[in-house]
Amino acid sequence: MIISLCLIGFCTCAFYLHFVYRNWQYLKFSWQVKNGFWYPILPLIGTMYVSLFSESINIMSLMQWIDKIKGFPFSLWDADKYIYITKDTKEVKIFVNHPKCVNKAPFYDKLKFIFDDSIFVVPEEIWKKQRKHFGMGFKSSILKNNVYVYYNHSCRMIEDLKYVETPKDIFRYFDRYSVQSFFLGNTGISKYLSSFEMEKVGDIILEIQDLLNSLIIIPFISPKLWLAIFPAGKKIKKLLEESKEITKYGIAQKKKMLRENQEYRENSKDILELCLIYNPNDSDDKIMRQVAFFASAGSDTTGYALTFTFVLLGMHQEIQEKVYKEVMEVVGDKDITHQDLPNLKYTEATICETLRLFPVVPVIGRSCDEDIDLGTKIIPKGSSCIFSILHLHRDPQYWPDPLKFDPSRFLPENQSKINPSSFMPFSAGPRDCIGKAQALVNLKVTIANVARHFKITSNHRSIQEFSLQSCLTMKTRESPHCCFSARKK
Ligand code: HEM
Repeated sequence: MIISLCLIGFCTCAFYLHFVYRNWQYLKFSWQVKNGFWYPILPLIGTMYVSLFSESINIMSLMQWIDKIKGFPFSLWDADKYIYITKDTKEVKIFVNHPKCVNKAPFYDKLKFIFDDSIFVVPEEIWKKQRKHFGMGFKSSILKNNVYVYYNHSCRMIEDLKYVETPKDIFRYFDRYSVQSFFLGNTGISKYLSSFEMEKVGDIILEIQDLLNSLIIIPFISPKLWLAIFPAGKKIKKLLEESKEITKYGIAQKKKMLRENQEYRENSKDILELCLIYNPNDSDDKIMRQVAFFASAGSDTTGYALTFTFVLLGMHQEIQEKVYKEVMEVVGDKDITHQDLPNLKYTEATICETLRLFPVVPVIGRSCDEDIDLGTKIIPKGSSCIFSILHLHRDPQYWPDPLKFDPSRFLPENQSKINPSSFMPFSAGPRDCIGKAQALVNLKVTIANVARHFKITSNHRSIQEFSLQSCLTMKTRESPHCCFSARKK
């Protein structure tokens, strides 16, 4: 017994001595940070067990626990990897613009098991090439064409909404809508697939996303272990296989077109074509994963932004009337075109205000590839940083009456009052959201079209009512109530 205790004592001392020796600079830094310093760092899990103190184990609950109980900035250890968590605008601005903070935090590594070649997780050298290449898929000429695609797609949804009226799971409803928008606008594959097949591929992507979220949610289980233990890992592989089968014919047709028509190759730049051009020798499986990643990045985000906007409009009738009035003045009963979009100023301000209150990507994380000077302290190379966009967006220091839904904050005449670093739903700097402009176009077209056809109501009364949860993207724990009643002509 005594020998065992001595042995345990010896191993514990050896572990901590070794830990302190290897991580001295990070410990020194976390001493400066104060919050989070005193939690014992345990082998394998570091201080990630603190997530058990929050309401539930997900990144959003952890951030809210830090905000309410401990305060930002905060230090966390994922095993022996140091993580600095902040919502300070000056620091966030330094991080997102720093050339040595371009790589993603190891927090996202779990995505590599499925999306290993995707722009989101590849190292900086490859990311730079991919960003330049795939940037061509989001050029303004392509967006201009897509207005027509989004408008027609939203018209079909409007017909459906007339029957559905109150979607049971509104997040899922607009998620499905957005994944279809992506396939219609960014892949050109719809002409080779039946609408049933299109819906199936969209649903597969959404299912993969849900499974991936369950992977991210468990902070201390390594992805390899996760894939081995949980059936979800195998299921993702099966789903990817299934979507490959469905899209096989469409991909083959696209390849044929690219081979046969050089001019077409030079001028056409949807995401699927860009994937085929980027690495012509890639297998269908790899191409499918690349496309699936873009679909996945563009669907939850846009779908949740639509959901939150409609719920907020349903809760604020006077704001909804202003949107309605603007849409009727600018567009009236005709088709929405790309010329209308710059004139939908109040609608755009409503989208921005929604994304301020509910940034659908509430947290982002970067890796420090060298020591980074934060002004008051220097964060050591090798640390990870997590920024809470949600808390930045709801900070009373930057946003008076932060929980009030007030789109007028974003009207052109008030924009000079906004500190640009206090609003970043699409992140900022060179690694911001590549689909930002596309998302805004799609949101504007869809919201304007829905607002002129329906009177939206919701029985929620305040922003505080919503309990949020997030892995990569953020939604409410329960599906919110929202009803769409056709406006009388
Ligand atoms: C409301 C809608 C959207 C929001 C709020 C949003 C937000 C974000 C954020 C915060 C990031 C992370 C940037 C960082 O880590 O600093 C990101 C990255 C990304 N987003 Fe979006 N996004 C939206 C829509 C879209 C759409 C429609 C697409 C494409 C179809 C897209 C594709 C991507 C990609 C590929 C990245 C990775 C970019 C890179 O690493 O270079 N997003 N997005």
